[in-house]
Amino acid sequence: MKNIIIAPSILSADFANLEKEIRAIDVGGCDWVHIDVMDGTFVPPITIGDNIVKAIRPHTEKVLDVHLMVEHPETQVEAFAKAGADIITVHQETCVHLERTLQLIRSLGCKAGVSLCPSTPVSNIKDVLHCLDLVLLMSVNPGYGGQSYIHAVTSKIEETRSMLDAAGSNADLEVDGGVNTATIAEVVDAGANAVVAGSAVYNKPDYAAAMSELRELAAG
Ligand code: DX5
Ligand code: ZN
Repeated sequence: MKNIIIAPSILSADFANLEKEIRAIDVGGCDWVHIDVMDGTFVPPITIGDNIVKAIRPHTEKVLDVHLMVEHPETQVEAFAKAGADIITVHQETCVHLERTLQLIRSLGCKAGVSLCPSTPVSNIKDVLHCLDLVLLMSVNPGYGGQSYIHAVTSKIEETRSMLDAAGSNADLEVDGGVNTATIAEVVDAGANAVVAGSAVYNKPDYAAAMSELRELAAG
């Protein structure tokens, strides 16, 4: 039985009722709360700032998994760490000095993650495995919830799993985008141990039931 981490993305939540929406996934059995931060430059939309993370923090003790889809993330990580993030993930595509940024995240007491867009090769992170707590593979082009899973990413999940295992890394391998009842088994079988699920949880009437179904399908 595989124990996977389920991280609902609040991007698909009702922002007018965010406290209620956070509590609902918390009591419904989520492992992490995935928070999509977008700057209107790296990706077109503008979503959530550190002030929202700070507002969410008192309403759940679950891990706050902050995904920064922003240019110059090194200028933002301290604010998100102070706001209460547990994991801060930056995009490799936005970091010239990736090693330094990952070490900065760790120095702030958070776990350090790096994300790759679907077109970015896995080899781009092979030299930072020593300071990596999480790899977040995008299985859609970032920017929007509710997109379809790009099946070409499945071989990247396998490649990343092999790379982490060969290096003896305990980093989590999380997949983000289009994960739902039709795709979760493929993602987990390829080697992911954590999945983001936005519309597959928040667009369902019963969040607990939606997460249970995903867990069952992941267990195979
Ligand atoms: C996309 C975000 C995702 C998104 C996932 O840029 O990073 O976290 O919310 O949404 P679904 O699960 O609906 O594809
Ligand atoms: Zn995300």
